[in-house]
Amino acid sequence: MITRSRNSFAISKVGGAVLLCVLTLFLGCSKETTDAPILIKFPHVTAPATPKGQAAERFRQLVEKRLAGRVTVEVYPSGQLMSDDDSLDALAFGEVQMIAISLSKLDRLTHKFQIFDLPFLFPDLQTVEKFQASDYGKELFNSIVDRKLLGLSFWHNGMKQFGGPVPMRSPQDAAGLKFRIMESDVLQAQILQIDGNPQKMALGEVYQALQTGAVDAQENTWSNTYSSKFYEVQDYITETNHGYIGYLVAVNPDFWNSLPDDIRSELDAIVKEVSVWANEQAASINLAGKEKIIASGQSEVIELTAEERAGWQQAMRPVWEKFSDNIGADLINAAEAYGKPAE
Ligand code: SIN
Repeated sequence: MITRSRNSFAISKVGGAVLLCVLTLFLGCSKETTDAPILIKFPHVTAPATPKGQAAERFRQLVEKRLAGRVTVEVYPSGQLMSDDDSLDALAFGEVQMIAISLSKLDRLTHKFQIFDLPFLFPDLQTVEKFQASDYGKELFNSIVDRKLLGLSFWHNGMKQFGGPVPMRSPQDAAGLKFRIMESDVLQAQILQIDGNPQKMALGEVYQALQTGAVDAQENTWSNTYSSKFYEVQDYITETNHGYIGYLVAVNPDFWNSLPDDIRSELDAIVKEVSVWANEQAASINLAGKEKIIASGQSEVIELTAEERAGWQQAMRPVWEKFSDNIGADLINAAEAYGKPAE
């Protein structure tokens, strides 16, 4: 019994070795298998015409041109593959290789990006860009490597506006409204600060939530508001420019470090090149979205006076204090200084 089993083990070892040799020979002969291009699956949640959609597509095209046959990029826009929340897990487990996720949605993993959600901290994209290029901004790329996310770059979307069922000229007009927000505790505090009712929700659910009255209002950029058609289901948009939406372009660090050096450095160069291109045109894509919304006549755009805008600013300012222990008062002061005119 024992002998038989030893023999059959020996036979199966020999058989296994033969099979392995045959397989190795076969694979060795099959050029297609050994030279199969590295696949980068890149899901994101916005439409192809948005700043992120265009940047992801340009990245795909440049990789196709410069790493032809060696790397293939599959871009899945509009949340067709998964939500942002799911993409964080999928990246960590190696099911996808690249994401460009809203900085607000990293709140689940770390507090380090909360500064980008503080209301009225960054007046415009140029100021955000200066801060992102600072030493602190660069440190953020490595700050969540232990959660299997390595940052390569920042991409802008734009500044946020409030949309809802009433003309919101002052924070008092927002009181009592249910606001859809991204998955961020800072944004939750921001809405509570104006006596609204914040509801964290994935982007793909917002249109229906506005349509059915599950939420009354939302905050987003012009390009997202246009491409997700929120202007069809909200009567007014107030141009507050009160916050920022931008993205961390990230890869799984194990995947990234496993790449041949020449491929990794070329991909890195392409990401950097695309970032410059994308960040230069983000503002004009948002402006075009605003103009198309106005032309549609479906949402009325409310422009605030300086005094009205200051009212919003004042009402939301206590949010800074609430998160200053998490973020660091020094960092908030440093970021604020980027937006002040030089003396
Ligand atoms: C994004 O721009 O990627 C997402 C924005 C949102 O969820 O509202």
